Amino acid sequence: MNDRLENIRQEILDGIEKHAESRAAAFELRKQFLDSKTGKIGQLMKEMKSIAPEERAGFGKNVNELKEWAQQRFAELDEKMKAKELQKRYESEKIDVTMPAESVSTGNLHPITQIRNQLIDVFTGMGFEVVETKEIENDYYNFTALNTPKDHPARDMQDTFYLSPEFLLATQTSAAQIHTMEKKKPPIKMIAAPGKVFRSDDDATHSPMFHQLEGLVVDEKITLCDLKGMLDMFVKKIYGEETTTRLRPSYFPFTEPSVEVDVSCFACGGKGCKLCKGTGWIEILGAGIVNKKVLENCGIDSEKYSGLAFGVGLERTAMLKYGINNIKLLFESDLRVLEQINDN
Ligand code: DAH
Repeated sequence: MNDRLENIRQEILDGIEKHAESRAAAFELRKQFLDSKTGKIGQLMKEMKSIAPEERAGFGKNVNELKEWAQQRFAELDEKMKAKELQKRYESEKIDVTMPAESVSTGNLHPITQIRNQLIDVFTGMGFEVVETKEIENDYYNFTALNTPKDHPARDMQDTFYLSPEFLLATQTSAAQIHTMEKKKPPIKMIAAPGKVFRSDDDATHSPMFHQLEGLVVDEKITLCDLKGMLDMFVKKIYGEETTTRLRPSYFPFTEPSVEVDVSCFACGGKGCKLCKGTGWIEILGAGIVNKKVLENCGIDSEKYSGLAFGVGLERTAMLKYGINNIKLLFESDLRVLEQINDN
């Protein structure tokens, strides 16, 4: 009988040595010996009855000792397996913090969208609301209401694509001034964007389709000083804190007086370089005090109210700011160009 016990003990030792590779395998092995119904040690207990009464007590003691011994071995085995599996998990989840991070490449917004977003940010920060522009306008909104009736020489300033005698592709975002003033009474403070406009014009700095952003403020006592102060803030945000502005007299039919706005050259700081053609100044936009006739065309009392307006070309702004020398580069979707401009 004691041989059987010794065999079982040996089987357990062999099993532990050879087959216990995981906690699950160790558990299965344990079951073979210690399961109360089917385990080999349990079976021995059941055999008690068939043992001669004088040997029974000694046998029972030996079986119990074996059982306790086996329980201890399997408890140790389970601890060992647990530690082994934990170690394995640690190894598989190990992070080497000195490894270079995987780089995630994302696309950029198009430079024109970046510039538009920057301008919208600057002007909404000053309290402007944003309205949309139309790509097809009728003659009245694009020209006549803006004090440019038929046969007005200023129509020649913009080479227009006519769709019919009445309809045309918007040549400027200024029509948004009229739409806004027809709908809203002063005080008005709006910018119009995104502003696709079209002109029959095509060279290194002009494209038949380009983008403008229009601004309009109408209130009591608006003067050129308000315009200058506001534009000063705008150029500092877009071209850098050191940038200053100067106004030059100009002509637009819808503003009186009209000005061309220059900024001190942000490339050379005003000393004169290739970008500013040696002058120290770069022209960036047209602006002025809204012509009284335009206010009156929209039913606004031009004695009580005055306004300022400006129009910025987005392609021109992007070309200046990012050093792009040909407008075509903004329309060719060449990733070698677009990848370089990430300014948002
Ligand atoms: N609409 C003009 C253009 O396309 C730009 C412009 C000039 C807009 C002066 C204005 C302004 O609002 O006041 O050339």
